[in-house]
Amino acid sequence: MPTSNIPVIAIDGPTASGKGTVAHKVADRLKFHYLDSGALYRLTALSAIRRDTPLTDEHALAKLAEHLSVHFSGPDILLANENVTQAIRAESVGNMASKIAALPAVRQALFSLQLGFRKPPGLVADGRDMGTVIFPHAQLKVFLTASVAARAQRRYKQLIDKGIPANMEDLLSDLQARDDRDTQRAIAPLVPAEGARLLDTSNMTADEAIEQVLKWYAEIK
Ligand code: DC
Repeated sequence: MPTSNIPVIAIDGPTASGKGTVAHKVADRLKFHYLDSGALYRLTALSAIRRDTPLTDEHALAKLAEHLSVHFSGPDILLANENVTQAIRAESVGNMASKIAALPAVRQALFSLQLGFRKPPGLVADGRDMGTVIFPHAQLKVFLTASVAARAQRRYKQLIDKGIPANMEDLLSDLQARDDRDTQRAIAPLVPAEGARLLDTSNMTADEAIEQVLKWYAEIK
């Protein structure tokens, strides 16, 4: 099958919008592959933090991104054979990821790695620029969002459930700062792709959002 015929569902949206859960479950239901593109930025950030690579060294950061030795094994993410599934979810890594994601050379270095996930029978790609830059011809594009308050609530609950202390005010300002960085950067900013369907999940359960995406996909198939 020519690559351009392999179906892609692009799901973009802001941090903590629930798109990870939705994209993952939609991929499971359709038996499609799943690309967590944010994980690639987080892996690059983790490598940079560990090597003390400064944000000002765009060239070195791009090299780290280009040579990521990453392996997705079911729910686990391995970096040079080390299981970093939990480590990359730390807020400090997320913040660094959002900063290095503004660097054009880093985005360029991760470009072809992401295209390589498009394999039969199909792909659900989750990120910020899946529908605008990486898979602009995706068969279905979804822009999944929720209010800042709803997203902060969800993040708060996730952290508390994991036994991690959390402060609502800090979470809100952190989310806002990350939104600002992701939407205002010069390259591949977070905006709905042309033709994207908007899904506001502020008052929706994850299951309802999953069903809506599957319904849209069934309609266009
Ligand atoms: O989805 P996430 O929180 O795991 O993503 C971490 C950071 O990576 C996010 O702040 C912005 C960046 N990112 C991006 O710029 N482009 C993507 N396709 C995915 C993530």
